[in-house]
Amino acid sequence: MPDFLEISQVDSFDLRAILEEAIAIKAKRRLLSSRGALDPELPMQNHVAALIFEKPSTRTRMSFDVAVRQLGGQSILLSGADIHLGAGSETVSDTARVISRYADIAMIRTFKPESLKEFAAAADIPLINGLTDQSHPCQVMADIMTFEEFRGPIEGRHVVWMGVGSNVCHSFIEAAAQFKFKLTFSGPDQFAPAASVLRYGGSNVSLESNPMMAVKDADLIVTDVWKSMHDAAVSDAALRDVLLPYQVNENLMAASQKDTLFMHCLPAHREEEVTSSVLDGKKSVVFDEAENRLHVQKAILKWCLRP
Ligand code: CP
Ligand code: NVA
Repeated sequence: MPDFLEISQVDSFDLRAILEEAIAIKAKRRLLSSRGALDPELPMQNHVAALIFEKPSTRTRMSFDVAVRQLGGQSILLSGADIHLGAGSETVSDTARVISRYADIAMIRTFKPESLKEFAAAADIPLINGLTDQSHPCQVMADIMTFEEFRGPIEGRHVVWMGVGSNVCHSFIEAAAQFKFKLTFSGPDQFAPAASVLRYGGSNVSLESNPMMAVKDADLIVTDVWKSMHDAAVSDAALRDVLLPYQVNENLMAASQKDTLFMHCLPAHREEEVTSSVLDGKKSVVFDEAENRLHVQKAILKWCLRP
């Protein structure tokens, strides 16, 4: 059974199938009268999911847990502090081998991409990447789903990433290559996405240091926090000086098109990378993105567990 580790590692045909499944799952969900009701099909009946979090999470934690329950399964939430995982404790591979003896599927939010790979290599059950320092593929699947709900096919469209080339940005670049859209990164050189990811994005990706120029014909503007969970050592004042020109505010949105959408994976730091007027404004679809985590992750769980 397959893992869902990186957008670049899943066949583009399967990525499209996952999105279609997510749309169908969401449509059926809308017909149910109660929020807590089980989905009409229960592909996770008699399945247990281990949901491991070495970093904080609101959306990923809730959406995976609710997804598993609504699909008829049960989940066990484990924080890094609950289990013997990592340096000085138990190796990642020993943990993965043990968890494989109890659970049917695992999701992990961890630090280094190497830990994700080590877990996947040692586990006998499918593994889903719930964020590493380098990527956040489930988030970007929800983002593509959300874009297409509002604006139709993303192929050939223009996405502009503002600010810091974070883990979410990396998965967006991989998605640009897989779903065939154009992505422009606009931010200071020191915060550019990793060279290896830019190489993977190839001709689908370009860099434009002038934020006003970058957004001119954007269909979608996306940003993320200036300081990710793994970046705790960076000083806020130093960040503000170099990143303020890339803040998504009313002026930047006005330099774009009338129907340009705004996305942010959340949590947002209001008045830093984005102003409240944009985040709460008409072009923002951030809460639809958050909701779609639930639907798209059900489709990812089903894809991983398919016979
Ligand atoms: N967007 C996202 O992954 O949010 P959490 O950190 O709350 O899970
Ligand atoms: N880049 C952010 C995303 C949080 C969902 C972080 O890693 O903290």
